[in-house]
Amino acid sequence: MPTSSADAAPSALATRGLVAGYGDVVVVHGVDVDVQKGRLVTVVGPNGAGKSTLLKAILGLSKVMDGHVMLDGAEVTGQPLELLARRGIGYVPQVDDVFETLRVSENLEMGGYLLDKSERAARLDEVLEIFPALKPKMRRFLGTMSGGERKMTAVARALMLAPRVLVLDEPTAGLSPALTRVVLEEQARVLAHHGKAVLLVEQKAHAALEISDWAYVLVRGSVAKSAPAREVLGDPDMAEIFLGATVRNEGAR
Ligand SMILES: Nc1ncnc2c1ncn2[C@@H]1O[C@H](COP(=O)(O)OP(=O)(O)OP(=O)(O)O)[C@@H](O)[C@H]1O
Ligand SMILES: [Mg+2]
Repeated sequence: MPTSSADAAPSALATRGLVAGYGDVVVVHGVDVDVQKGRLVTVVGPNGAGKSTLLKAILGLSKVMDGHVMLDGAEVTGQPLELLARRGIGYVPQVDDVFETLRVSENLEMGGYLLDKSERAARLDEVLEIFPALKPKMRRFLGTMSGGERKMTAVARALMLAPRVLVLDEPTAGLSPALTRVVLEEQARVLAHHGKAVLLVEQKAHAALEISDWAYVLVRGSVAKSAPAREVLGDPDMAEIFLGATVRNEGAR
């Protein structure tokens, strides 16, 4: 049994001692995360634990106060999003940022903005191989599609630049439990099957842990547990961590 997800293979994405926040406020307190090629690694934790801030720090979108972000061992700490995209990291933020008034095809083309026309067409073919369900929907406007389909389009758009690493912030937000399972299985898991290193943040801890390889439990900006996802799933302390944090949050209101 590995003691760290880092034992399995060199990390496609890693953070070391990452401290991050906004202005003078520290939200993430020295976090180490490792994600390998072909693996799905999930960060779970209560509301406000700093999950999105951690992802934003990796993407250069929140303030990194200390520590490192590494892509295939190369330091990329604080690099702007476009440069990170060129270096092979794709990001799907928590807030749905697809273009409702555009068709699926147009949203995907925008994802390939760094490519020339022929490269874009080739990428589109590959993306539709990963997400065949989008094929018959290419002419549909995003505004007329379901939450799951919109999320699939957002992930597909990030795939247009052929990232090696995908960072997904709560792809199941606002979806029903049934659709949550479909999205996790057919999107997050499928990406790992296709050899991507996937870092997923989820509030729906149980469903996410069921399909993940490794899990980090983030509580108040620190890693409370780092273990194989199955192990976290069966850990009675998990309920305590979530319930305890919820009670504290409610007490603070
Ligand atoms: N843009 C911001 N400016 C200042 N503080 C922020 C900002 N975004 C988030 N925070 C604060 O950082 C803390 C962590 O927020 P974050 O969004 O990272 O949590 P989270 O774990 O993603 O929560 P959720 O599960 O609700 O998405 C919270 O206290 C929040 O108020
Ligand atoms: Mg969040």
